[in-house]
Amino acid sequence: MKRKLVSMTLALMMGISLTACGSGGDDKPAADGGNTSTEDQAGDTGAADEGAGDTGAADEGAGDSGSSAEVANKDKPLVWFNRQPSNSSTGELDMTALSFNEDTYYVGFDANQGAELQGTMIKEYIEANIDSIDRNGDGVIGYVLAIGDIGHNDSIARTRGVRKALGTGIEKDGDINSDPVGTNTDGSASAVQDGSIEVNGKTYVVRELASQEMKNSAGATWDAATAGNAIGTWSSSFGDSIDVIASNNDGMGMSMFNAWSKDNKVPTFGYDANSDAVAAIAEGYGGTISQHADVQAYLTLRVLRNALDGVDIDTGIGTADDAGNVLSDDVFVYNEEQRSYYALNVAVTSDNYNDFTDSTKVYEPVSKQLDAGAHPSKKVWLNIYNASDNFLSSTYQPLLQNYDDLMNLEVDYIGGDGQTESNITNRLGNPGQYDAFAINMVKTDNAASYTALLSQ
Ligand code: BGC
Repeated sequence: MKRKLVSMTLALMMGISLTACGSGGDDKPAADGGNTSTEDQAGDTGAADEGAGDTGAADEGAGDSGSSAEVANKDKPLVWFNRQPSNSSTGELDMTALSFNEDTYYVGFDANQGAELQGTMIKEYIEANIDSIDRNGDGVIGYVLAIGDIGHNDSIARTRGVRKALGTGIEKDGDINSDPVGTNTDGSASAVQDGSIEVNGKTYVVRELASQEMKNSAGATWDAATAGNAIGTWSSSFGDSIDVIASNNDGMGMSMFNAWSKDNKVPTFGYDANSDAVAAIAEGYGGTISQHADVQAYLTLRVLRNALDGVDIDTGIGTADDAGNVLSDDVFVYNEEQRSYYALNVAVTSDNYNDFTDSTKVYEPVSKQLDAGAHPSKKVWLNIYNASDNFLSSTYQPLLQNYDDLMNLEVDYIGGDGQTESNITNRLGNPGQYDAFAINMVKTDNAASYTALLSQ
């Protein structure tokens, strides 16, 4: 892989270490859980059969779907996405899962780079709007923070990113404490400290007035409705002090925006660049971060396509494929040691939101149809951990559905309930019917629940 060195260097520069960068684990409950299979069609449509592949691993000639019986399930291409196999307490990567076979990869995004962008975006907004932001004029810029899941790496990184940029973080075990504070209107909480921002020679205190994990009574985390209720409670007890709202994702951010902050003109900052959040920037939503889901969804299917075609894994990624699809260095990094592709994040604010209005649009440099003769149809089993997850259902899955056609992949989409792995694994009853697998675990510790099925 030509770009390996560059990518590794970039990765090092960006501080990607052997900890989970993409996602952490969580136990998400939620509604739903139905099989959202939309393109379910068993069977082989393999156009130009180039002969049965042997092991899907170092597979040379790609076999068609009908040949999948000849490839052991344990040797078929496997991609983990959005939730990186890792220990949900320590963040340590599960390298056994990440190197399950020669064609195993992870696709996610650089959580630390994105978190830093989110914090910086908020800080810059405060500085630029200093004359009007302090609504009650008390010299304290107060913000509230919606935390997605206290055991999820993405959520932890985003909480830290906000606290770091605003100077409210304090160190715990060598990193910024990411614990929720409950309420902290007097600035006495021990998990955070008051920060300060100096603009035009004047110093303002910055205070995290309140933060909590948005978990509902059934146990669903990243829960938008809980966030909508929380802003109701917070605003009725200390509404005038709230000058800024920060949220670990747009689902929760939009819920707070619609419930309160839009009417009260309090800027709200989320993460994911879902289409509804981007549109809301025109109405006062402060900003969001694109985790380049268009690149992630492409990579998720592309690594499978390449393995099935028996070509270099960099094909159509760092090296143009036969249709001209190629990604540039500024949208992803590959960390070979971690077997992981990380999309890079971009801040979306009132300056540039017009470029991000449709979060389900394929990324133009990789939008060209693959030839069905050279890249015959293959069957992929793919699950979404929680069919109700705002980001995965409104942004990621629609993107996957656009790319699967372009790559001649027939994908069965399985939607989980966000609570139990078995709800999903029960629907992987016959892996022999598929040529490849794409897995989004409920909890990042649980990779073995899936690999055990593939190893049988
Ligand atoms: C997204 C969240 C989402 C989570 C699910 C994160 O990358 O930002 O919105 O709930 O993935 O794993």
